[in-house]
Amino acid sequence: MALDSNLVNPWLGAAAALVLVVAADRVWQRNQTKWTHEPPMLPYTIPFVGHAFSFSKSAQSLIRVAAKTFPGHQPYSLLLFGKRVYIFTSPKDANFIYRKSKALAFLPLVESLVGPAWGITQDGLDRLGDVDADGDSLFRNAHNFYRDSLKEGPQLDGLTLNFVKYVRAGLDDWFAKAGGEVKEVNLRTWSRALLGAASTNAVMGPSIIRNHPEFLSWVWAVERGFFFFVNRIPRFLAKKQYDARDNAMNAIAEYLEDESNRKDGAPMIWDRNDQMISKGMQLSDRARYSYSAYAALQTNSVPNSSALLWHLFNDRKLLRRVREEIAPVFKGEPYITTLEQVAELQQTCPLLRACFDETLRLYSPAASNRRVVEEIVVNGYTLKAGRHVILPAFAHHQSEVFGERPAGFRPDRFLPGGGADAKQVRAFGGGTSMCSGRYFASNEVLSYAAAVVWRCDVEMLKDGMVRISERKIDLTTA
Ligand code: HEM
Repeated sequence: MALDSNLVNPWLGAAAALVLVVAADRVWQRNQTKWTHEPPMLPYTIPFVGHAFSFSKSAQSLIRVAAKTFPGHQPYSLLLFGKRVYIFTSPKDANFIYRKSKALAFLPLVESLVGPAWGITQDGLDRLGDVDADGDSLFRNAHNFYRDSLKEGPQLDGLTLNFVKYVRAGLDDWFAKAGGEVKEVNLRTWSRALLGAASTNAVMGPSIIRNHPEFLSWVWAVERGFFFFVNRIPRFLAKKQYDARDNAMNAIAEYLEDESNRKDGAPMIWDRNDQMISKGMQLSDRARYSYSAYAALQTNSVPNSSALLWHLFNDRKLLRRVREEIAPVFKGEPYITTLEQVAELQQTCPLLRACFDETLRLYSPAASNRRVVEEIVVNGYTLKAGRHVILPAFAHHQSEVFGERPAGFRPDRFLPGGGADAKQVRAFGGGTSMCSGRYFASNEVLSYAAAVVWRCDVEMLKDGMVRISERKIDLTTA
């Protein structure tokens, strides 16, 4: 009787089926490398879901944990909602992958992600992919367009000048509101707001944040939602992020609709908008595609700058050395206001640069992503066409090529005789799709960090909290 009722109990049947699926999946996880020769799978519990939740929570933490299972920079695979992703953490493998841009391509990956990531319609994607008589399309010419907009020259100079102007305005405004008092803030949040506003205003002009003071909070919610969007996770499971995306896109659409914004906006936004109009793209798709360029500007510079400031203010000796080094650049003035000063920071402040390189090495959240277009063997493993490859920069940087104690923050390693070469830092990626914004990023992070270090006294508290006050010094000295 009991046996009969068990047989007909649908819950027991489902549970038994589930156990069978999980057991079969375990066998597959353990043995598949022998059968497919792909990089081995990091063990996971729930079939199909795999590592999706831990990856979306913190990809860096997951990759750190995985290094214990695959020591010595071995390649491995993750499973993210049924999609197998190859992770390569060795600098040697990364350099090989950067060179194989035909088999391991950047563009097809971008083409497959921008639609779900930013909510561009199929019509918009078709127009971005529309190939003209010269064999060119907006997708295909994206790298050259952004490379040319952001290379060293007049456009970059204009952006940099705007940026230092807005950093000055942001700090002045903050000091005025503080009214001479010491304020307790979270350093990361404070820095994110200051740098985020200065870079947004420099690239778009001041109207977006003026009209939508919550804009930057939407941007960071969108950043947290990226993984959900590209995996088409239903809206009710990530409502805050989807709502933030709608708000941010509406704000950009409103901005692009108002031609008077053109005079304060960078050509990389407005020339691209003109190109999209010439392809007949509707306003909301233009806003969503413009957002992807804007997001590239925000998502890496802000965490790198915050980490840099944290280390500078946390090490008084280092702070003093940096202040002494940058003092001549300020020439008795409270702020950096000219291109000559920014160039001086680059050329005459090796310690500040070394600190920036060290934060890029240890903290950059950036990763290069590639799509396998043709099956290829990398480091003895077969990569199957259609799969996704991720090269996480910070993991490549945990290498002895950077000298002793690669896990520690030690900027002197990049000074002459320090034993490490900053060219080995690959936070900006590599190959044909290397970051187009790297010159602006350097101008931005160095001038921002120098301004904050010069103008602010910061006392470190617990849990990322700090006390900030205006520095009371004779500005002609360090
Ligand atoms: C510390 C700051 C930054 C870091 C670490 C960083 C890192 C990266 C990385 C790793 C890539 C992918 C490269 C590859 O796949 O090989 C990339 C691409 C890109 N970045 Fe950056 N980035 C930073 C700042 C910026 C800024 C400030 C801008 C814009 C002003 C920008 C614009 C871009 C663009 C447009 C691409 C796509 C390149 C292409 O289409 O080929 N980035 N960045």
